[in-house]
Amino acid sequence: MPDRLPLPKHVFRDAMARLASAVTIVTTDGAGGRHGFTASAVCSVSDDPATLLVCVNRSASTHAHLVANGLLGINILTHDQESLSTLFGSSRHDMETRFAAGRWKRGEIGMPLLVDALVSMECRIAQMQEVGTHTVMFVEPLCAEFLRSDISGLVWFDRAYRRA
Ligand SMILES: Cc1cc2nc3c(=O)[nH]c(=O)nc-3n(C[C@H](O)[C@H](O)[C@H](O)COP(=O)(O)O)c2cc1C
Repeated sequence: MPDRLPLPKHVFRDAMARLASAVTIVTTDGAGGRHGFTASAVCSVSDDPATLLVCVNRSASTHAHLVANGLLGINILTHDQESLSTLFGSSRHDMETRFAAGRWKRGEIGMPLLVDALVSMECRIAQMQEVGTHTVMFVEPLCAEFLRSDISGLVWFDRAYRRA
């Protein structure tokens, strides 16, 4: 198949729309203050050592702060946290407005964590790889809190929010 053209972007996007993903809010804190954005491109890579990846658009305002701080929080959202996902998923809302919503605490290593996420983790960025428009951040979780077992998760599927 030497002469195959790459898949057109719109076909790729339509195919990926059918790949259900958990919705998270990725946060960081440091000299530049608190930052966070909605991310569904978060998944497990390996359990030895425990490693996840997070794909961050380099145009996202949080990107530079993640790189500078080298640490991040991952908040896996419950199905009733859709409004938080919308708030953290749009450039229309500044960081003050975003963090005014939801109940936040500082984690063990200082990352902003939701008190009522499904699970929250604090992680160290171990490696970064630039691919196209995004940086793939390979992160090692240092702590995890299991906060809710009584509720389903928020999922992004077919360009809409669903329950896990
Ligand atoms: C459901 C959903 C999932 C998203 N997943 C990602 C993602 O995995 N990576 C990413 O860089 N942006 C993702 N975004 C877009 C960012 O959240 C958004 O671009 C970001 O908040 C931009 O605002 P800012 O640059 O003002 O922070 C997602 C948005 C939504 C609504």
